[in-house]
Amino acid sequence: TILIVDFGSQVTQLIARRVREAGVYSEIVPFQSAEEGFARLKPRGVILSGSPASTTETDSPRAPDAIFGAGVPVLGICYGQQTMCAQLGGRIEGGLHREFGRAFVEVQKPSPLFDGIWAEGTRHQVWMSHGDRVTALPKGFEIVATSAGAPFAAIADEARRFYGVQFHPEVAHTPDGAKLISNFVHKIVGAPGDWTMAAFREQAIEEIRAKVGREKVICGLSGGVDSSVAAVLLHEAIGDQLTCIFVDHGLLRMGEAEQVVTMFRDHYNIPLVHVQAQDLFLDALAGEMDPEVKRKTIGRLFIETFEAEAKKIGGASFLAQGTLYPDVIESVSFTGGPSVTIKSHHNVGGLPERMDMKLVEPLRELFKDEVRVLGRELGLPEPFVGRHPFPGPGLAIRCPGGVTREKIAILQQADAIYLDEIRKAGLYDAIWQAFAVLLPVQTVGVMGDGRTYEFVCALRAVTSVDGMTADFYPFDMEFMGQVATRIINEVKGINRVVYDITSKPPGTIEWE
Ligand code: XMP
Repeated sequence: TILIVDFGSQVTQLIARRVREAGVYSEIVPFQSAEEGFARLKPRGVILSGSPASTTETDSPRAPDAIFGAGVPVLGICYGQQTMCAQLGGRIEGGLHREFGRAFVEVQKPSPLFDGIWAEGTRHQVWMSHGDRVTALPKGFEIVATSAGAPFAAIADEARRFYGVQFHPEVAHTPDGAKLISNFVHKIVGAPGDWTMAAFREQAIEEIRAKVGREKVICGLSGGVDSSVAAVLLHEAIGDQLTCIFVDHGLLRMGEAEQVVTMFRDHYNIPLVHVQAQDLFLDALAGEMDPEVKRKTIGRLFIETFEAEAKKIGGASFLAQGTLYPDVIESVSFTGGPSVTIKSHHNVGGLPERMDMKLVEPLRELFKDEVRVLGRELGLPEPFVGRHPFPGPGLAIRCPGGVTREKIAILQQADAIYLDEIRKAGLYDAIWQAFAVLLPVQTVGVMGDGRTYEFVCALRAVTSVDGMTADFYPFDMEFMGQVATRIINEVKGINRVVYDITSKPPGTIEWE
């Protein structure tokens, strides 16, 4: 086990992820309980995370001294490096040479940390984000890499196997960072790289059982990957103590609601309540043009419907959610100050407070692609696991302006054709999300000998790693022409197709 001591950095989970990718099990423990965690886990190595705090302030968090006396290797990252130095007799200074963003380090000395990646005298890109820096090293340490703003960009006490880096190896902007962390856990700690998602599954099942005991759990199924994986995992852990509630708002993609019901009821034998709430949602949305009101209406109705169904089932004290790590960070503001609401996502928060239930969130530590790996591990069918993300408010936010049953039906058909062509062309997995949008605009066309006056369909496809930023996908024109022809010929109500070439930012992925 690698113990990760969390000092409150936004990217601590990325450290855990890199360690997982290296095939080693890790646990994150907040610094307040790190002493207990260290004694309990008896880790073979320790990583100290970054932090928004400054070691130059009084009462700033510290690593338990026991860690430095136990003879285990330690890697301090950013704040972790600084507190290690401060605690072992070095000096830290605040503020003058701040470095944020891309920086370059120069390797001064070989170190097992750099094995196979960084040779002496070479320069490498890293990601920095610090105000303070180390200005005097504790005894036994030497400099192994420098940068313009941080003369102690990487330091090592090879005898005690203590390492510190001022930059963040866990983020993607440090291209060799993953290898560096892998060097720490394999070459320095000597941990075997045999830990896998299969092991995660076993462990998650144990944790769910320990947490839930004999109590009942309800889980909202949306048809998406996250809630599905969470539900199958929970069912494996606690069997029929789990009931799933699928609130069908009538705003899913074509055929999707049926697929969810068949898969969960018939294939997995998971108790499932299919709430046919299409009329409720579509009636409430009638005539509503404002995107935020649409989102909030759907969110509110979802909660009310879910709550009513949960009451009918009765006796459940746990609510399961397929919350992922990015949901956790996206709902916390980076600066600590108020963040601007761009769109009110309806799937994070709200429900548990209102229903006064305890939460079980077995995917909370995972990223989307890891959830997919876990889904495959659990035997979920590939087309399901690999499915593009789909927003909670569904097709309502892909129908700018008023939503009607007719428009949803038209949109479902166009969307299905578009996705079918994308799959046939073998492009589905290269794209983060692809979907059709039905514009509230009618234009004139000519079909056969007649004039048409029908809706415009916009197509969107983007690449992205996490949905936070995105680029439009560069289809070739022949492909686009083929999709447009099929949609116009096959879908009654659409006579014009356009392609959205906006990136995010400044656009968003969805249109509302
Ligand atoms: P935007 O449109 O904000 O979308 O660029 C970023 C990602 O989030 C998805 N999205 C949502 N997901 N509930 C969700 O579960 C929502 O209310 C919601 N709104 C947007 C969107 O599909 C994209 O993947």
